[in-house]
Amino acid sequence: MTTAPTIPDGPFSRPRHEGAGYLKLLRRLHALQRPRTYLEIGTAAGKTLAIARCPSIAIDPRFRLDRDVLQGKPGGKPACHLFEMTSDAFFAAQKPTALFGGPVDLAFIDGMHRFEFALRDFMNIEPHCRPDSLIVLHDCLPVDEHMARRDPRDRSRAADAQYPNAWAGDTWKALWILQRYRPDLRIFAFDAPPSGLVVVTCLDPASTLLKQRYEEVVGAASAIDLASFYAGLAILPTAALRRPSWLSSLIRPRGFDLSAHLAATSVG
Ligand SMILES: C[S@@+](CC[C@H](N)C(=O)[O-])C[C@H]1O[C@@H](n2cnc3c(N)ncnc32)[C@H](O)[C@@H]1O
Repeated sequence: MTTAPTIPDGPFSRPRHEGAGYLKLLRRLHALQRPRTYLEIGTAAGKTLAIARCPSIAIDPRFRLDRDVLQGKPGGKPACHLFEMTSDAFFAAQKPTALFGGPVDLAFIDGMHRFEFALRDFMNIEPHCRPDSLIVLHDCLPVDEHMARRDPRDRSRAADAQYPNAWAGDTWKALWILQRYRPDLRIFAFDAPPSGLVVVTCLDPASTLLKQRYEEVVGAASAIDLASFYAGLAILPTAALRRPSWLSSLIRPRGFDLSAHLAATSVG
């Protein structure tokens, strides 16, 4: 007989993530994967867009760029398309594969922090990827219910919050949906502070499952609480990314257990 996970009373809170910060991890991913194309949803000042060295697409309804996102030449971006609009409006009008002349290698989802938006962003990007492309999601591992609040104006739990000014929203429910409804994907959640970084690969550009069951999966996720989500989640140390072989480990055939691999090779 299996024992059900214990769900604590009161607002959920867990220790802060202890790994490398999400920007460092993204830089590492770019260095390891060397993507030929990069698509980003949610750019703000351009911190994450500036990391890419390849042709890029950035989508944000309100850019607030405060740096050189092209990163100059030689070695900078050969092209950078900025779309000042919501990601839904972008995908209704544009095809990234047509803009790039090929598939999206690396995508970063960091736009609207509500799970339906992050889920649609994933659903809209996947058809433009190769199976071994990477889709990275930010903010799916909030450390407490204040950080995970759906409404950023809600300050009712700010007094006990670990990061009173952070807002990850309920993006974590998009991760819950991908884990539950798309077992064909390979999903790795990393302990990058403050709110985690999730890497998804083994993509299926032809998959229509989420589109067909969109209303159902959104309804199911609405009823899930943060404590139950964490009870079923394995979180990997960002230190795993120090190994150059990490990326090839990640996209090994199904059944490959990255946690076991890391333990066996003494990386932690
Ligand atoms: C957290 S910021 C992105 C930060 C940036 N990626 C970084 O790490 O520095 C989120 C951005 O998403 C944008 N955003 C909000 N709603 C959006 C939507 N529906 N589609 C695309 N971007 C959206 C906001 O304007 C904001 O600039």
